[in-house]
Amino acid sequence: MNINLSQKERMLLEDGRTQEDLCVKKYQSFSNQAEDPELKRLFTKLAAEEHHHLDIINNLLEGKSPNLSHGNKDESSLSNNKITASDAPHTSESPISFNSANDKILLQDLLSTEKYVSNFYDTSVFESANKEVREALQHIQREEQRHGELLFNYMNSHGMYDVK
Ligand SMILES: [Fe+2]
Repeated sequence: MNINLSQKERMLLEDGRTQEDLCVKKYQSFSNQAEDPELKRLFTKLAAEEHHHLDIINNLLEGKSPNLSHGNKDESSLSNNKITASDAPHTSESPISFNSANDKILLQDLLSTEKYVSNFYDTSVFESANKEVREALQHIQREEQRHGELLFNYMNSHGMYDVK
């Protein structure tokens, strides 16, 4: 089925494409920079999910219906494979030993990026005239919020986030 995009949808999707491309690059680059191996794995996994967002947006811009649950990147697998504190005992280091100041900066940066991107999708969802575009953007936004949750959970369990 071909999707006919409005001018506004096209404009927003092009911005989204730029944003997702940046997210892929950030997660990849931060995965190389992170000191904690657990965090490296998390960033690598999220880079792959951001790549899937990029694919979805590219499909929409080409007028094609995107596959939202492509590969193993759907939400259920995300929660099944999520890296939690229970993974920590398998490593020789305790989570506390990886309260790295550098890693914290990477996490704060990504959290603020995810916040911005989620906000961007909120506007884009409201501006979508096409049901398929709207649903795809809602799906991506949910995943961005889930990414934020994973970043927060890591920070919280490593003493990097002071919950008031
Ligand atoms: Fe994304």
